[in-house]
Amino acid sequence: MCGIVGFAANENTAAEVFKGLLKLEYRGYDSAGIAVINEGRIKCEKVAGRVSELKDAAEGLFGKVSIGHTRWATHGAATRSNAHPHISYDGRFALVHNGIIENSVELKAELTGLGIEFKSETDSEVIVQLIAKNYFGDPIKALDAAVKRLSGSFAIALICTDFPLSVFAAKKGSPLIAGRGRNRNMLASDVSALSPFAKSICRLSDGELLEIRKDTLNFFRDGKPVEKEFEEIKMKEYKADKGEFEHFMIKEIFDQPEVAKSIIEKRIRNGEAVFSELEPDILTDIKQVSIVACGSAYNAGMAGKYILKELLRLPVTVSLASEYRYAAPLPLEGTITVFISQSGETADTLAAAERVRALRGRSISIVNVRDSALTKLTDYTLYTEAGPEVAVATTKGYTAQVMTLCLLGVWAKQSEKSVLFEAVEAIKSIPEIMLRLLGTKDKAEELAKKVKEEDSVYFIGRNIDYAVALEASLKLKEISYIHSEAFAAGELKHGSIALIEEGTKVFALNCYGPLTDKTVSAIREVKARGACVTAAFCENDGNTAAVCDEGIPLPIVHPIVGAVCEIIPFQLLAYFTAKHRGADIDKPRNLAKSVTVE
Ligand code: G6P
Repeated sequence: MCGIVGFAANENTAAEVFKGLLKLEYRGYDSAGIAVINEGRIKCEKVAGRVSELKDAAEGLFGKVSIGHTRWATHGAATRSNAHPHISYDGRFALVHNGIIENSVELKAELTGLGIEFKSETDSEVIVQLIAKNYFGDPIKALDAAVKRLSGSFAIALICTDFPLSVFAAKKGSPLIAGRGRNRNMLASDVSALSPFAKSICRLSDGELLEIRKDTLNFFRDGKPVEKEFEEIKMKEYKADKGEFEHFMIKEIFDQPEVAKSIIEKRIRNGEAVFSELEPDILTDIKQVSIVACGSAYNAGMAGKYILKELLRLPVTVSLASEYRYAAPLPLEGTITVFISQSGETADTLAAAERVRALRGRSISIVNVRDSALTKLTDYTLYTEAGPEVAVATTKGYTAQVMTLCLLGVWAKQSEKSVLFEAVEAIKSIPEIMLRLLGTKDKAEELAKKVKEEDSVYFIGRNIDYAVALEASLKLKEISYIHSEAFAAGELKHGSIALIEEGTKVFALNCYGPLTDKTVSAIREVKARGACVTAAFCENDGNTAAVCDEGIPLPIVHPIVGAVCEIIPFQLLAYFTAKHRGADIDKPRNLAKSVTVE
């Protein structure tokens, strides 16, 4: 995934690049590095660790141009030698890269044949060596010639000792944004790294090259200058602040009632759902809804499937973007495709959206990060208003997505007054219910102290409970590293029940009224085989309470808002389990907040 930053100014720029990298750590945090040009030479510092570990070294770097990188390892382990920037064999160029070079093996063989010695195992190093090989005094020409030989995706920033006041860049497939500031210009993988310094920004398109100097930004395509428009930066700088909380994740879990309130303020007026971004009839004549997303956003889509089916009475499909983008194209007539993404930068989701656009399908994106790439690829964007989310494991991002889907369904059906009143009242009750559920945090911690000893746990549920089980299971595994899987309770008998033995921990989610008896049967079946079952159920449900070993009673809520509330005890459980296992909660191993490569 990786994040890249580059700055050109009339003063030292390494500190700004360092600050930018801190903002980009959500893209990967295996290793980091910064290079500057100082007295005609490249000076470079790298660490096999977090960006913060680069601080002291970065303070010793001085240069009017700097580039920096935070890495999520794809080719080669997270070592210092594999960390970027990479330097060309002649010492003239330093380069940082986000993306994947698919023909790096062939290019490396070719360059090695020419006597070039590689210092890293990365795919990225071939780019800088290729640039050096193609350099005859004009870095833009060398960059152009080199990138034309690359397959895959890249956002590249480059410095050259012969041009000590410029940063060069190229883009294909991976995001790259140029920023114009006061007496300084810059580039980065996303707006957050630029927002403290830039007044206006411009997104590079695939195939474009860029040269930035402190007072100019020149764009090129095929070696010829191109004009680009800049837009004023809308995103305000935000200070990542945990407040009284120990981790961002728990802070963000506790942010949820406020997020829910602000969504309600924005989306419910005079007892009606409001989506002023949408044309009023956008959902009127559709024949189906197709939801596409990755990770927790996919799980939010699964919850959305049950909610929208219930409200719209239409077929709703949910696809993983990584599968959807390569599946045989289906006719999109009568289909509205809804892309869900907290970051708006997930590579597979972007590729899926590009595909729908190419097929002229109608689309809506549900996104948290303003002006992110996905918003440019869909007909309409609905912002989730969750505020900046820092912890890699999403919590408030997920609930904001599910709430937006609930509201969208209500909006589409609000001509039916019976749907409207009940549903709107249910949505309005969410903040208060969330607060109640957050009040059970000590209980969640007690449960977590037991769960932390498990090697494997299972989550079961039906209908929307199954959708929540998927997210509960993902939350637990991604931050506590305990193996966990979620099954549709009715599918257990078709294989998964073979995993149940004496003492196996099973979480049963059983709040969806019409099917509670069915899940009670599934609980009995796993208990008969020795499972120890903790069940979440509505507080008036004596049957589930009687059959489980331990209960998580939840307030009785309208089914369309069930998912938003039911996930909270499981977010807390995941958090406290990870905490009692001593895991790095906000930056779990091997993960990144935004997956910008496929
Ligand atoms: C990563 C994150 C998840 C997120 C998923 C999709 O895997 O760790 O929390 O759900 O990407 O991200 P998106 O930004 O598209 O919602």
